[in-house]
Amino acid sequence: MKVGIIGATGYTGLSLLRDLAGRPSTEVTLVTSRKEAGGKLIKIHPSLAGYPGYRELILEDPNLLEKIKEKEPARFPEVIFLAVKHKAAMALAPRVLNLGSKVIDLTGDFRLKEKELYPKWYKFEHECPEYLSQAIYGLPELHRDKIKNARLVANPGCYPTSVILALAPLCQEGLIRQGTTIMVDSKSGVSGAGREPSLGNIFCEVSENFRAYKVVGHQHTPEMAQELSFLAKGRISLSFTPHLVPMNRGICTTTYVLVQKVSGLSQITEIYQDYYKNEPFVRLKEQGQIPETLDVRGTNFCDLGLFYDEDEDVVKIISVIDNLCRGASTQAMVNLNILSGAEENLGVNLVALRP
Ligand SMILES: NC(=O)c1ccc[n+]([C@@H]2O[C@H](COP(=O)([O-])OP(=O)(O)OC[C@H]3O[C@@H](n4cnc5c(N)ncnc54)[C@H](OP(=O)(O)O)[C@@H]3O)[C@@H](O)[C@H]2O)c1
Repeated sequence: MKVGIIGATGYTGLSLLRDLAGRPSTEVTLVTSRKEAGGKLIKIHPSLAGYPGYRELILEDPNLLEKIKEKEPARFPEVIFLAVKHKAAMALAPRVLNLGSKVIDLTGDFRLKEKELYPKWYKFEHECPEYLSQAIYGLPELHRDKIKNARLVANPGCYPTSVILALAPLCQEGLIRQGTTIMVDSKSGVSGAGREPSLGNIFCEVSENFRAYKVVGHQHTPEMAQELSFLAKGRISLSFTPHLVPMNRGICTTTYVLVQKVSGLSQITEIYQDYYKNEPFVRLKEQGQIPETLDVRGTNFCDLGLFYDEDEDVVKIISVIDNLCRGASTQAMVNLNILSGAEENLGVNLVALRP
């Protein structure tokens, strides 16, 4: 199968290339960068140089997609990943779809169903809202059946992946206490901000430091509410605060939920066990065990730890993922597996890189 990556010089592009190197019968035939067009991929990512399929790949200009297809139609990818900045995918996805390839988009440009939410949360007007209804939100645990036939998959955000998986069983079972707001507190490694340098993510600003950011209004909030409300068949309200921690990769999310109709931790555990019983990439910790980011590093796993504060009727869920893998590239490869009819775990690494 031929695949391509637009935005191959960034962190999620690199992570995708690592994942795809482990997927049998997969050939990456197109990689792009505007700034590095014409140069060798392995000059930008020397860590990929050991894989023969990448040694001769040349970065191409994403503005020339139509010309590339016209000149060499046989090499044009069947599926193209968009690993570009927010807003850039809006212009690229329709072009790629018109060229006959399927799209797996890693940005937030097609995740929200209501176009009115984009100016408020992303600060732009959506340029092709007609695509929002056909885009399938690419969280396999929720939308596996629809992903199978999708032409445009909106791969979930990293924070929302950790939050939605933490809350899905409680929302579906109607156990969130009515009229309450779920509190969500997430901590992310710095690779979540991408490879492009900015003052806030240089070493001396991040090392030995721990800070919240976008305390109100983070753009991932409506995506969580959209998917959880869909599961709950009613409005789910949540308040989300992200933090930056001095590590390269990983997300640890703590979610605080006021519940109703709950008898104790064993009931909650049974609900989660049942909900995730056929899910290969969600692991429930044993009672009392606390999930750690190092146990999922470099993998597609989401580890969940369940805790119940009986005095306050509060359920606390700790969820950990690797932001670049489960939060981006490996989840995107699982979506590729689903939409191409392959086994869901084809090529997916199952062992974390620890320490
Ligand atoms: N980092 C994470 O943990 C993570 C997790 C989930 C989702 N995401 C999302 O995934 C996307 C990529 O993130 P990243 O961390 O890989 O970013 P990044 O490291 O900054 O890389 C961005 C890539 O996109 C290319 N690009 C940027 N603007 C473009 C445009 N207008 N047209 C074509 N190519 C463009 C860049 O190369 P050129 O500028 O040379 O073209 C570069 O290759 C973002 O939307 C991000 O929100 C990231």
